[in-house]
Amino acid sequence: MIRRTVAVVMGGRSSEREVSLVSGSAVARAIDRDRYRVMLVEIDQDGRWAQSETLYGQDHLAHTCADATDPERHPYHLHSDLGELWRILSQADMVFPVLHGPYGEDGTIQGLLETAGVPYVGGGVLFNSVCMHKPTLKSLLVHHGIPTPEFRTVHAGAWSADSRAESDAVIEALGLPLFVKPSSLGSSIGISRVDDAALLGQAIHLALRYGSTAIVEMAVPHAREIECAVMGNDAPRAAGVVGEIVPRNQFYDYESKYVHDSGLFVPARGLSGRETESLREMAVAAYRVADGAGYARVDFLIGDQGAMVNEINTIPGFTEISMFPRLFMADGMSFAQIVDELISLAWERSERKSLA
Ligand SMILES: Nc1ncnc2c1ncn2[C@@H]1O[C@H](COP(=O)(O)OP(=O)(O)O)[C@@H](O)[C@H]1O
Ligand SMILES: [Mg+2]
Repeated sequence: MIRRTVAVVMGGRSSEREVSLVSGSAVARAIDRDRYRVMLVEIDQDGRWAQSETLYGQDHLAHTCADATDPERHPYHLHSDLGELWRILSQADMVFPVLHGPYGEDGTIQGLLETAGVPYVGGGVLFNSVCMHKPTLKSLLVHHGIPTPEFRTVHAGAWSADSRAESDAVIEALGLPLFVKPSSLGSSIGISRVDDAALLGQAIHLALRYGSTAIVEMAVPHAREIECAVMGNDAPRAAGVVGEIVPRNQFYDYESKYVHDSGLFVPARGLSGRETESLREMAVAAYRVADGAGYARVDFLIGDQGAMVNEINTIPGFTEISMFPRLFMADGMSFAQIVDELISLAWERSERKSLA
């Protein structure tokens, strides 16, 4: 039997580079070698693609880049020599992108692969780009009656023209406390919680350093953070249990994600069967409205108003101890079976496209 080649692409320039290397390595180790030839591809700090021999273990995460939150590292550029990129892609029958954040989880790599005609794991251009842009995803959720914290978008142009009027409008619409975030980033970078109106300007200014719009959301007080894993193309299904994150700090900021371990519970503590069921249904509904395919992790905030969708991660952390695989492992699947199913879903999508 001819083994097809799966290229696992990892690394990249984003602040989540280190997690991506560990996740990508875990995925690469789990791919069935009897059926596939595995090619490791690492995108380096400068955006260049190169074949690699290196597999990273969980301990690699211990040294997180201290400067990852520096706005000067954003935005990223893909500097790759296109000839080299093409040489790599032309050897692959399929790409498994395990890249988090911009240029991985935002539809750009997916667009490149579509253009090159290479099948790939996970959702398509639209799913990735919609989920990366928080105001767009949230507008879709609102349109479809799926609860999400109320929000406003602040545009850089309007902000520099009259920041006072913009702040007043935000406070009037949403009150306090608030969360201010760059519209399209991840890793909690550039995010502030604002309890005092006098500090709103500073928070918006920070978020706008990472892009041309910021999103300001009503804070969910004492929110529990619940996560649900979904996979599938036409018939997406949620893992049987949901998980819970208990951040070490006041919210799940960069430090609680990568520097200090936060609590991770599978299953989430003290939810009734009915509550879990309703979260699973809401997760699948959110996945569908965003044009979900492949897989994703749907994150909720649960406060006094009930469960709300916070965001959808289209390439969630995929280390052996990450939430996404752990939730399906709780259903009895092995890590390797999860990886295998994602590859099958990708063939299914590419075959469908070639018939279209
Ligand atoms: N509206 C909100 N209410 C309460 N907490 C929030 C809200 N939005 C974000 N948070 C906190 O900030 C963290 C990061 O926000 P999130 O939108 O998930 O950004 P990222 O895409 O960087 O992960 C969340 O995990 C949560 O701890
Ligand atoms: Mg998040």
